[in-house]
Amino acid sequence: MKNNKIIQKITQGMYVLTTQNGGCIVDAVSKISAGENPLIAVSVKKNNYTNTLLRESKTFALSVLGEETNLEIIEIFGMHSMKEVNKFEKVETIEVDNLKVIKDSLGYMILEMIGGMDNDTHTLFVGKVIEADLFEEKEPMSYSYYEKKKKNLIKNPIEKEKNVYFCTICGYSYDEELKKLQRCPICGVGKELFIRRNENARK
Ligand SMILES: Cc1cc2nc3c(=O)[nH]c(=O)nc-3n(C[C@H](O)[C@H](O)[C@H](O)COP(=O)(O)O)c2cc1C
Repeated sequence: MKNNKIIQKITQGMYVLTTQNGGCIVDAVSKISAGENPLIAVSVKKNNYTNTLLRESKTFALSVLGEETNLEIIEIFGMHSMKEVNKFEKVETIEVDNLKVIKDSLGYMILEMIGGMDNDTHTLFVGKVIEADLFEEKEPMSYSYYEKKKKNLIKNPIEKEKNVYFCTICGYSYDEELKKLQRCPICGVGKELFIRRNENARK
């Protein structure tokens, strides 16, 4: 390929896909037909729990995130799995046609599952819009807006678990492998006087 960066120029939005028992953030969403009940295609990774749920679902919902949507929604739905966290206990939702849609969104679509197509990593699910509502006439969040303006404001949970080392003498903190550090750069004591703490424990 001469330059596959051109692929990143395909514009995508930010959505929460929900099924009856879970859901996740998706940006790989596309409207593939027109009319009153258009078809929408959504690509979901096979190792997402949501993929397993969708295989059993007759309907699913897409909530459209706005530029001002609370970033906690992206963190909870996009960086955690329903296998570990009940996402619906952490984010306010509204019940529509037996599905939970995100209250802090611009609106939602309810889709009837038409079918799916697999490759080795993803499933492309296709749904037909059977219900929809607009909560707010505001700017939707594009994936590139998220990347440029919002991504760095969210702490990835993997990052949060990163260990931080503290100098017990002067309080200097160091968040990389301690073996790289021999002495405290501030007060000069040896690394044996550092203690390790998870960054979360400081909060
Ligand atoms: C900005 C953003 C965009 C994402 N887009 C997709 C996507 O299009 N398809 C997908 O399968 N996962 C996507 N993800 C990842 C899932 O939301 C994430 O893996 C989630 O934790 C899966 O949760 P689950 O195991 O409960 O299904 C995205 C995550 C973020 C933060």
